[in-house]
Amino acid sequence: MARAVRLKRGGGRGYLRGVSTAQTGAIAARCLIVDDDTKVRQSLARVIEVHGLGVIQVSSGVDALALLRENGEIPLCISDIHMPGISGIEFLREALSLYPDMAVIMLTGVSDVSTAVECLRIGALDYLNKPVVAEEVWARVDKALEKRDLVLKNRFYQSNLESRVRELDRRNKQSLINGVQTLVHALEAKDAYTSGHSARVARYAVKTAVQLGFTGDRLEQIRLGGELHDIGKIGTREAVLNKPGPLSPEEFEHIKGHTALGERILAPFLGESPVVLGIVRSHHERMDGHGFPDNLTGDAIPIEARIVSVVDAFDAMTTNRAYRPSRTPHDALEELQRCAGSHFDAAAVGAFSRAFSDVSLLPLSI
Ligand SMILES: [Fe+2]
Repeated sequence: MARAVRLKRGGGRGYLRGVSTAQTGAIAARCLIVDDDTKVRQSLARVIEVHGLGVIQVSSGVDALALLRENGEIPLCISDIHMPGISGIEFLREALSLYPDMAVIMLTGVSDVSTAVECLRIGALDYLNKPVVAEEVWARVDKALEKRDLVLKNRFYQSNLESRVRELDRRNKQSLINGVQTLVHALEAKDAYTSGHSARVARYAVKTAVQLGFTGDRLEQIRLGGELHDIGKIGTREAVLNKPGPLSPEEFEHIKGHTALGERILAPFLGESPVVLGIVRSHHERMDGHGFPDNLTGDAIPIEARIVSVVDAFDAMTTNRAYRPSRTPHDALEELQRCAGSHFDAAAVGAFSRAFSDVSLLPLSI
């Protein structure tokens, strides 16, 4: 079969355009020429070398695949279609399955147009009609490498974008946590008796939840809910918060409003965290339905809120409040156990007592 590469000189410019070893994993920017016709192969190699690319020549698809497997990806490959052994199409399929980003240009005769189209469908980037001229080779080589470069850059951009989105998400979460801590500090500045209460409740709740099998994100939600459960007290009058004596019915109603108010304050920030909002709203519900604000009963109360209810009560009992002195940890635990099933979730009380088997070490100093 007569094959001719008609060389036209001039215009060669060296480049390794935009294809770095780091991006491709190839050992260097090179071109692999696969053709059983030695004259065609060598002529084409000279054209490519004049253009500034190092060339490796092989005479069959089998040799080309062996070379690729041994040495890794080569950025550009120009392959004949009709060769002894495996055909150019078979080589193309196999080569792209090894290295999907390799830029492959097929060498075709006039009668091979339909085969060339098939090659494009498989993944070749272009084809060159024989006999080829140097300028056309250079133009097709440039175009193929530019396409490959674009694909690699897009992929790099995509993966970089994903990591930037993850970083942004992490920063958003951190700024939410910072905002939460500011809110908690604002509350604790207003109500000196609850100083450290939110942090203790968060820690007690997490350890209790671990006993109930909570892990990962669910623990993080519990922790956040514990930190924020009383945030609605920002809207409670200080005279009521710090009143030393018993509350009047009106004052009691006023302070009860901190649950729903807390949910309303946080909803714009935590709309995607219904668990945390559920803790804030429902941490004063009781198993027997005599709690507030919704008089929920039993399992209708979110489990996370039932946990926070237990540890909130424990911490309230074991720290001094405006209206009464603290009780001992043993007394407080006995009170929780006495009210398990009616006021508190019995499983949550059990988990709390397992989490803090030596209750005398409490309250934690935060
Ligand atoms: Fe509360």
